[in-house]
Amino acid sequence: MPKGAKAWVCIIGIFLDLINNHSWSHPQLCKIPTTLDGPFVPFTAPFDPSLRGKTVDLPDTDPRVQRRVKGFEPEQISVTLSATYDSVWISWITGESQIGYNVKPLDPKTVSSIVRYGQLRFPLTHEARGYSLVYNQFYPFEGLQNYTSGIIHHVRLTGLKPSTLYYYRCGDTSIPAMSDIFFFKTMPVSAPQNYPGRIAIVGDLGLTYNTTTTVSHLNSNKPDLILLIGDVTYANLYLTNGTSADCYTCSFPDTPIHETYQPRWDYWGRFMQNLVSKVPTNGGGREP
Ligand SMILES: [Fe+2]
Repeated sequence: MPKGAKAWVCIIGIFLDLINNHSWSHPQLCKIPTTLDGPFVPFTAPFDPSLRGKTVDLPDTDPRVQRRVKGFEPEQISVTLSATYDSVWISWITGESQIGYNVKPLDPKTVSSIVRYGQLRFPLTHEARGYSLVYNQFYPFEGLQNYTSGIIHHVRLTGLKPSTLYYYRCGDTSIPAMSDIFFFKTMPVSAPQNYPGRIAIVGDLGLTYNTTTTVSHLNSNKPDLILLIGDVTYANLYLTNGTSADCYTCSFPDTPIHETYQPRWDYWGRFMQNLVSKVPTNGGGREP
């Protein structure tokens, strides 16, 4: 289709979208403007009533939230912005988290934190090392289950070039337990007329069947950067036995302390890996 015709189809598409209360439903025809085409008059899309009105959490039986790796292979891999374009953090988890009455924290020293990376897929010429930790949520109340995480690894890559694609894999080369090869693109040099073209801003993601729709929209619009502006998994709507409620205090008025179900964080990290292993985020806010 010639460019002019495409533009008209796009304009007509947007018009039809507006009168139908849809926004951007013709991405294959429209070039969605980037921030560099702006500034624009702010536009608030009306709520689309075809979306699910009641959110339903993905259950722990959903394959998208289940642990798929073996042994100490990395999972929940993500790229997070550091101070400037020339550095990012690569984070991941090894080993299994535990929840129950007799959990035994893993020793973070048992698995190294190594990232191999470079501008070519083969060979990955650079190596960086980082640190690891575990966190525990132990309750001093009988009947409440305790949680201890897998080993959480953080490695900072430095000396990166701006607006450049890098390939990487992470893990421990000595076990060996290295991930597949992933890739991400660094931020441009920061300047008044020079910033990421596509910035996705999202909050209150949760891990529901609406989240899956939101995240597939994020994916298909190919953002350069994702800003997670707060509230992530809503693990705090759960008891330690995995029971949830839309309103914690209404449903569980008698619990001795506000409980959470930390495995929801592992579920979220697994579900999000496909997106956040390739698109840098700001790390996001973290409710308990
Ligand atoms: Fe929220």
